Amino acid sequence: MTSDLPDQNLDLLAQRVDQLIHEIDHLEEGPRNKALELKKAIEAFHKVGLTKIVQRLKLDPRGKELLFELVDEPGVFALFSMHGLIRADVNTLAARVLEGVRPYMRSHGGDVELVKVEGDTAFVKLHGACEGCSLSAVTLRESVEETLTTQLPQIQRVEVVPNAPLNGMIGLDEITLLDENTGWIEGPRAADVPPGRPTRFDKDGVSILILPLNGQFFAYRNACAHQGLPLENGLLDTTAGTLTCPWHGYSYDAMTGHGFTTSQSHLDPFPLRLENGTLWIRPV
Ligand code: FES
Repeated sequence: MTSDLPDQNLDLLAQRVDQLIHEIDHLEEGPRNKALELKKAIEAFHKVGLTKIVQRLKLDPRGKELLFELVDEPGVFALFSMHGLIRADVNTLAARVLEGVRPYMRSHGGDVELVKVEGDTAFVKLHGACEGCSLSAVTLRESVEETLTTQLPQIQRVEVVPNAPLNGMIGLDEITLLDENTGWIEGPRAADVPPGRPTRFDKDGVSILILPLNGQFFAYRNACAHQGLPLENGLLDTTAGTLTCPWHGYSYDAMTGHGFTTSQSHLDPFPLRLENGTLWIRPV
């Protein structure tokens, strides 16, 4: 083993960082805590400098242009993303806001799904008790509209579009309509998925990535939108809700799979449900 770090090559550097973090994880508690403390201190130190650079560049029109050019570089993007210096786009922000109202919607038998945000309008699909003309359906729809427009000033209107099946977590009422032949496969026990760590699960020739995020689970095809490489060694930031690819730094919203690095990059989501402590996934 060599202690030399590969110069310039982002892939090799990322692999080396992963390897070292893995080795630190296996140290005894004292040295491990000290190493992690050092890592945090260096990151905090770098964040102060990077924040100053970004703030200064943003004050100058040419500096702003340069910043936009720089974040197209996967390495720079990963660095800024890691330090929370890049804000998610409006689609990602809207999806997160809707995640916040979901428990309320579900407790009333409904659900909501973001389709897209275009201009000042959010397009959503509504499910269950949100559909129809009953008083409760109208109330639930109004709460979606109010939450989105209040929390995201850039959204002025909400439009409901016709329904289609949801990605992500599936409601129990929908599950009962599915039989064994509809493609659901039994995944790991939820308790066996380490919190905050991307977990790979291979079945019938399909590689599945499971992301445990603050008590919820999300499933994707285990392939980065950049070059299709596996993501189980990616960095899952449970605070920012982002997954960063270990190979070249493409970054994704962990809850929606939406890519931050380019507008076309998107992870391929699989429906997932939790039943009696077991995760069931339907690779489609
Ligand atoms: S960023 Fe290149 S494969 Fe993920």
